[in-house]
Amino acid sequence: MKPYYSTNTVTLYNADCRDALLDLPSQSVDLLLTDPPYGMAWSSKSKRVAPIRADGARQGMRVFRQAMASASAALAEDAHAFVFCHWASWPDFHDVMAPHVSLKGALVWWKNRGGVGDCEASFAPDYEVVLHGAGPKRRKLAGKRHGAVLPNFAPVLPKRRTHPTEKPVELMSFLIGRACPEGGLVLDPFAGSGATLVAAQQLGRRAVGVELEERYCEAAAVRLEAARRGEP
Ligand SMILES: C[S@@+](CC[C@H](N)C(=O)[O-])C[C@H]1O[C@@H](n2cnc3c(N)ncnc32)[C@H](O)[C@@H]1O
Repeated sequence: MKPYYSTNTVTLYNADCRDALLDLPSQSVDLLLTDPPYGMAWSSKSKRVAPIRADGARQGMRVFRQAMASASAALAEDAHAFVFCHWASWPDFHDVMAPHVSLKGALVWWKNRGGVGDCEASFAPDYEVVLHGAGPKRRKLAGKRHGAVLPNFAPVLPKRRTHPTEKPVELMSFLIGRACPEGGLVLDPFAGSGATLVAAQQLGRRAVGVELEERYCEAAAVRLEAARRGEP
């Protein structure tokens, strides 16, 4: 499959990950780090931003299940896996991951910032859940033991986003630095605008990303080139 963008360390495919992942070499991936469609039918209030592909509840889970099945053989025995999900659907994400990795816990990315919903009769949804799994061969995380709550990563401001659910590069860097060895391979099957890939590139890890929508591949390619030039 021809990459949409590639350097000697980062490769991005404009494809359906359920197909593209089947071509990855067996046991080559050291870290699966991804932010799949949450299955929450996200939509912009302004209607100016198109909905996220495969984000309907049933469709989202089906796509994630098939993606995990396609990625499974490519995971090294000592791989780690971080998967972002929504509080309402994390048990479904857990069940999809469980046949492929053993679940080690859940991290909470505390965004320290509001969120939508019933503003007067519910608590603000100011966090996201990240499930953490690992392969059968134990590999230690780097650094001193860290708590499961990650409070120091500000969300990307709406005016700076190139994707409606863009994750901060700094958060992806933290996870990659802890769980992927130097020179190791990071996989993001739902790459969006490339936050995982930019973080991997900056940290000297290799990375493979797959994204279905060409406009997000283009956004990721632009960001990767800017990061190579050292631009913020
Ligand atoms: C939650 S977003 C990821 C955002 C990303 N973390 C970022 O920081 O920009 C999920 C992405 O998965 C893509 N997607 C949905 N189904 C896909 C599939 N079958 N294969 C590859 N990408 C897919 C969507 O187009 C969307 O951009």
